[in-house]
Amino acid sequence: MSKIALFYGSSTCYTEMAGEKIRQYLGVDNVDLFNVADTPLVQTGFYDYLIFGIPTWDYGELQEDWENCWDELDQLDLTGKKIAIYGLGDQLGYPEWFLDAMGYLHSKLVHRGATACGYWPREGYEFEASQALTADGNFFVGLALDEENEFQKTNERIAIWCDQIMREFGLDKHDPTRSLQGNTPPPGKGEVGRGP
Ligand SMILES: Cc1cc2nc3c(=O)[nH]c(=O)nc-3n(C[C@H](O)[C@H](O)[C@H](O)COP(=O)(O)O)c2cc1C
Repeated sequence: MSKIALFYGSSTCYTEMAGEKIRQYLGVDNVDLFNVADTPLVQTGFYDYLIFGIPTWDYGELQEDWENCWDELDQLDLTGKKIAIYGLGDQLGYPEWFLDAMGYLHSKLVHRGATACGYWPREGYEFEASQALTADGNFFVGLALDEENEFQKTNERIAIWCDQIMREFGLDKHDPTRSLQGNTPPPGKGEVGRGP
């Protein structure tokens, strides 16, 4: 079994695709990937290192699969576990609620005893408000991805963040083969079903 598990929820595949890129970068044998739509969160108990992926939907709300399993989080004992979160959002379309759900998930996980890693600088993003910022406002509580407006930055952001979390997890054995190829534009809005 891998040491690291990545749990994600995703309505239109962007968070899923980012999860696959993270797994590819860290090595497919090192990361087990789970969709929260069909995997109970109690599975987190088998891993010491956890990555969570969560998009924000509908003006600062949880993605629907995360909403469905939200109460399961209250049953978890994450004491001694290191976690890192990445969030998907749209800073121009929803500037008052950018990545809010990532902030809600971070708060839940830390309350369950987890040690959070992978904070990410706020500098360079444009938005009005976010529940995913640290108290001093200088960092997001996880990796901030915006496939609507900045898809060309995603691969580089993932690579930098993965190196960071591996260091913070204490698992870094610098692997020079780690890389992500190319910047693939996401499918157009018309090509994939969107939520309501
Ligand atoms: C109806 C709708 C509402 C959204 N609401 C928010 C929001 O409140 N905050 C935010 O940062 N992004 C918001 N987004 C952007 C999504 O988070 C973004 O499209 C994300 O990539 C979706 O991820 P998924 O495909 O994994 O579900 C919204 C998108 C749509 C279509």
